[in-house]
Amino acid sequence: MCGIVGHLGPSQSVEIVLEGLRRLEYRGYDSAGVTFLNQSGKLETHKKTGKIVNLEKALSSVNTDSMVSIGHTRWATHGGVTDFNSHPHSHEHLSMVHNGIIENADSLRDTLQGKGFSFKSETDSEVFLMLVFSLLEKMPLKEAILKGFSQVEGNSAFVFINEKTREIFAIKRAAPLVCGTHHTKSQAVVSSDPYALIGAADRIYFPGDEVLCHLSPANKDLISFYDSEGNPSENYKSQKQEMEYDPSDKGDFEHYMLKEIYEQPGLVRSLCQFYFDGDGKKFLEKVSSLRPNRFHISACGTAFYAGLLVRDFIEGINRIPCVYELGSEFRYRNPILKEGDVGLFISQSGETADTLASQGECKSSSIQTVSLVNVEGSSLYRECDYNLLIRAGVEIGVASTKAFTQMGLTGRLLAHALGEHYGDAHHEKKLIDKFSLLAERIDEVLANVEDIKKIAEEIYNKKGYFFTGRGIYYPIALEGALKLKEIAYVHAEGYAAGELKHGPIALIDEEMVNIAIVGPELKDKTISNIQEIKARKGIIVGIGPNDNSLKKISDYFLELNFEGLDELSPLYVNVVNQLLSYYMAKFKGTDIDKPRNLAKSVTVE
Ligand code: G6P
Repeated sequence: MCGIVGHLGPSQSVEIVLEGLRRLEYRGYDSAGVTFLNQSGKLETHKKTGKIVNLEKALSSVNTDSMVSIGHTRWATHGGVTDFNSHPHSHEHLSMVHNGIIENADSLRDTLQGKGFSFKSETDSEVFLMLVFSLLEKMPLKEAILKGFSQVEGNSAFVFINEKTREIFAIKRAAPLVCGTHHTKSQAVVSSDPYALIGAADRIYFPGDEVLCHLSPANKDLISFYDSEGNPSENYKSQKQEMEYDPSDKGDFEHYMLKEIYEQPGLVRSLCQFYFDGDGKKFLEKVSSLRPNRFHISACGTAFYAGLLVRDFIEGINRIPCVYELGSEFRYRNPILKEGDVGLFISQSGETADTLASQGECKSSSIQTVSLVNVEGSSLYRECDYNLLIRAGVEIGVASTKAFTQMGLTGRLLAHALGEHYGDAHHEKKLIDKFSLLAERIDEVLANVEDIKKIAEEIYNKKGYFFTGRGIYYPIALEGALKLKEIAYVHAEGYAAGELKHGPIALIDEEMVNIAIVGPELKDKTISNIQEIKARKGIIVGIGPNDNSLKKISDYFLELNFEGLDELSPLYVNVVNQLLSYYMAKFKGTDIDKPRNLAKSVTVE
């Protein structure tokens, strides 16, 4: 989703901003732009639809020497994908980028138009620029931004450049924003993602909501913070920048997605090491003190399906009831949040607006909140009372793979920490062994990838796909279908195998594929469900244990060894689904790492 990068320093401002934008490319966008203060001391804006490379081409004949600039990658919400609607938006001495949605943009625009202000774009974003501009008649820029911000509704982050003073202002409400400084390099930076600032800042600052960040070369600290009244504010968190930037080469892999699938065995092993032998122990210790009466699990997309798996762990192992709800629905359902309940939120980015809103709902009901999150320091991480990092490393592929596995496993560790055997060396050893068995089995799947590829080639052009599973494999059926539609652009649905006959079976014919996940749990019942599809001439891809009746009804069969994996086995099967989707998308020739219309991190409601 939209990415923001701003920089001020002695030189190379545009290069630094473009490098930051390139690092955010993986999040998904449809246009890119940059504004810089040119050698004549004027703001100069270039923006182009499509990939950053289009913008770079447009800049190739331009002198971009500059000491201050802002850049943006846009994921359209209001107004079509056009150069005009791309950011930055500029007016006279101001230029601005925006991430989020201004919910009252229409009424603000009407008022401003009534006062004679006109607009160049169809965006809600430009409304804030003109609102601030209109306020400059009566007050300086700093106060105008604060006052304007108090009038906009919805969750947003804005970054401004002022041509007159070579300064940057940034402000946000429930949207990601991070600032940074590098004193040796005499530069200050701002972004929607700390990942963009690695190398450009050695200290990073996470401002609170409504805090105005002021980046200025005239300030010896390079940055200062103000509250909504314009007084100095301490409502921000600061830390040393410890992330390292790995230019994330794909190595020998054709796509990040494939690279990330292959990283899974290593990550499973290191997760276990971190929580049983490393710094993670203290986090497990902390959550082990929780005594929840009930969990409310909320998340979006892949993270939501990981949440269903975590529900199975917690209900199965701890017998603690879990209710679960999609992040986008949670707050509108008027959830029953009682004392003793605990909110559990799962997110790769830690910035998904709907997941954050669910957390906010729990927080305002004074129930404790726990995150399973990948990005340390993200909004979700900062807001929750307890955090368990999933330690997936940077995930670039928009379709989440390794994060799903790590979410599930971290949820399993949460169940362990809450369980009666927590601290018991014998049980811990058994769990560690199970994790390492999972890593081995995933290695085996990866070693036999050719079998999966062959099936993908046979089925990638069919009419539609049902992923089915039962019990603990049902969440994997849902996740399998999501993955396939995300990257192969085909219609796919995840269903509980026993439910197909209650409607969807009407769709089955010789052009429909059933990717049938069968594990030891409910095996015979699941096979009976597959028979029903087979009887209607559906194409069966059986994924399961060595079982004669399953083999007999499968048109294509992938044998798996479930022995000893127990409740972790869905994560094993899921790797097969990931690879199947990957190769089907590859045969279709889609943009696997950046599928159309999708964003990696969805920071609007
Ligand atoms: C977007 C992404 C999905 C992701 C979901 C939740 O829709 O395209 O891949 O699963 O957001 O993201 P999160 O960062 O909260 O895990």
